[in-house]
Amino acid sequence: MILITGAAGFIGGNFVHHWFERLDSQGLSTDEPVVVYDKLTYAGNPNTIAAHLQSGRATLIQADITDRDAVREALHTHRPRAILHFAAESHVDRSIHGPGEFIHTNMVGTFSLLEEARTYWGALPEAEKAAFRFLHVSTDEVYGSLGDDDAAFSETTAYAPNSPYSASKAGSDHLVRAYHHTYGFPTLTTNCSNNYGPYHFPEKLIPLVILNALEGKPLPVYGDGLNIRDWLYVRDHCEAICQVLVKGTLGEVYNVGGINEIRNIDVVTTICRKLDELRPRESGRYEDLITYVKDRPGHDRRYAIDPTKIQRDIGWAPSETFESGINKTVRWYLDNTAWIDTVRSGAYRDWLTQNYAGRA
Ligand code: NAD
Ligand code: TYD
Repeated sequence: MILITGAAGFIGGNFVHHWFERLDSQGLSTDEPVVVYDKLTYAGNPNTIAAHLQSGRATLIQADITDRDAVREALHTHRPRAILHFAAESHVDRSIHGPGEFIHTNMVGTFSLLEEARTYWGALPEAEKAAFRFLHVSTDEVYGSLGDDDAAFSETTAYAPNSPYSASKAGSDHLVRAYHHTYGFPTLTTNCSNNYGPYHFPEKLIPLVILNALEGKPLPVYGDGLNIRDWLYVRDHCEAICQVLVKGTLGEVYNVGGINEIRNIDVVTTICRKLDELRPRESGRYEDLITYVKDRPGHDRRYAIDPTKIQRDIGWAPSETFESGINKTVRWYLDNTAWIDTVRSGAYRDWLTQNYAGRA
């Protein structure tokens, strides 16, 4: 049994699918059950993992990671051999509008989880104690922003977070590090680049552009559109986590990147061309909808991951190119309108108004 926080969200949800679908090095799949511990905020959607909840292989506990009683009860009831910690407030623009929730969930929440997990782990029988793992999922944004000629982020790059989101994730990373160093708590940390793929909440660039395009709405590009992200297909990230869980050295950090540095404007035009091919507009091309809007405050210019360590020590490398990954992603959004309808609530529309009304 493993316990996964935030697995009703984008990456955690994909992780649950990947967990049951992947084949290991002996060609075997697993039926080891998972407990999903998730508050179900606006970003959490049980429909993402409905098939596994219905089959009984996944169990959902709807609770907050800052609620220590609830965390303790979940650990003692389900007795996991590992905790995978995905739960977080994850959207930079939301952190600019309201940083408090980010500090509370990402820092206080990670602290609460670490405290309860440390107590639980400390009381395990020796063999189970030795096998226990706490894997913390973090972001490359903790390293700050790169210039065009700077070397990509490695595990030894100094932390320099620039947004309330990345600062709160940096704080959580430091707590995880300290719990290993001070208490010997068996941690692993992964810092990954921008993920994309199925079940991505349409507040982030790629799903927002796909859905706006299909509705003939403007495709908002912040600033000059030349910011660079290192795009990682979500299933490649999930596989990296599976492998780090098994092969990672305790206390270590592994950077996970897609080796896909792309400018935002090129991401948007690639999506437009894919839609031109798969779902042509009645008149004109999707690129006609591109609209440059006011920039994000403090917008990081470039992120790029140097994946040498995870390739060398773990043997992981991404399998998707941006071309193959975006192809799968666009097709998924065209084929999964029922899922899309469930996430576009009134609260989602309110967010679009809040974020984009002042950017014209
Ligand atoms: P997401 O916003 O899609 O999902 C977050 C999930 O956490 C949701 O299901 C939500 O309900 C849950 N959650 C939020 N607050 C909670 C709380 N207090 N208690 C319990 N559950 C709570 O996020 P994501 O994109 O899936 O990101 C997962 C993790 O990966 C995060 O830690 C994020 O910082 C990290 N990450 C994401 C990306 C990316 O490109 N999406 C890149 C690097 C790192
Ligand atoms: P996003 O998906 O929010 O991820 P992150 O901020 O964590 O990198 O944004 C990806 C890039 O796209 C980032 O440089 C901001 C930019 N962006 C836009 O240009 N327009 C948008 O509407 C959004 C949401 C993002």
